[in-house]
Amino acid sequence: MKKVLITYKLNPEIAKELDGKFEYVLPDKSGFKREEVLEMIADFDVLVPNFSFYTDREIMDKGVKLELIANFGVGFNNIDVEYAKQKGITVTNIPHSVTEPTAEFAFALLLSAGRRLGYYDRKIRTPEGLSWGLYDEAGLPIYGKSLGIIGMGRIGQALARRAVASGMTIMYHNRNRLDKTIEEKYNARYVALETLLRESDYISLNAPSSKETIHMIGKKELEMMKVTAVFINTARGNMVDEEALAHALKEKQIWAAGLDVFENEPKISPQLLKLDNVVLAPHAATKTLEARDEMGLEMIQNILGFYFDTYPISKVV
Ligand code: 8YV
Repeated sequence: MKKVLITYKLNPEIAKELDGKFEYVLPDKSGFKREEVLEMIADFDVLVPNFSFYTDREIMDKGVKLELIANFGVGFNNIDVEYAKQKGITVTNIPHSVTEPTAEFAFALLLSAGRRLGYYDRKIRTPEGLSWGLYDEAGLPIYGKSLGIIGMGRIGQALARRAVASGMTIMYHNRNRLDKTIEEKYNARYVALETLLRESDYISLNAPSSKETIHMIGKKELEMMKVTAVFINTARGNMVDEEALAHALKEKQIWAAGLDVFENEPKISPQLLKLDNVVLAPHAATKTLEARDEMGLEMIQNILGFYFDTYPISKVV
């Protein structure tokens, strides 16, 4: 039987889908440490990492039997895919189960940052509190505003659907322009990145992280945004220059941000932690038990599909 090493605490009920077909090991704590994985990996054919487990050359070299890395996430910047390709190791990801939860959370961040929910909640609990004056500490509306989506794939489109239903207009930037039928569905305008940055009231980053997208939002891009712009990131932290973003928020160059991902997770820039115009979350966009189970099933379907051709697999390399 092929052996599967799962690096994090997957719901054991979901892991049972592997019963009878694979031997598998998963931790009874939240996750195996890197050193523990390095010690065990030589015995395993399949490795299941998540975004916080960096699957690099050392892991793949020690994993002499590795045939498949079945990532528990759509983003695979935690994996050296070039090296996997060189070694003939297949890498899969889970693009379907994360779509709706991530779009839902991006929209929640958008609402919270625009309407200042995090700020109000924090202030209402403190002795100095907030001002209840009719015009004091006002938020920004969602209805009637424009949303610029950078990366109009599955998640970008699921976000667009929510935004349109809430009275927003959509512009988007993507590597490739989408089909007319998809554009029409959201009444979405395809624009250059610079136009999106200059004209959008809300901006959401939903593109995949790659070598090319590191710091794609930096000082220059932040300076292009409106002073009333609200910036949302549920993609990857390394796509944004976190220091430049903190500076822009502090200096009120842009109005607010909602962030689920950070450059050096789980560390967050101390600058950001001090600011009132940013809503912060701990990489939680897919953190519902329902989503975690769906993700687990999609990951297992990749393993089953790889070995038994029972399901189409989402192959990265
Ligand atoms: C997950 C994610 O929280 O899918 C991704 O790329 O970042 C999130 O959905 C993560 O993958 C869990 O490991």
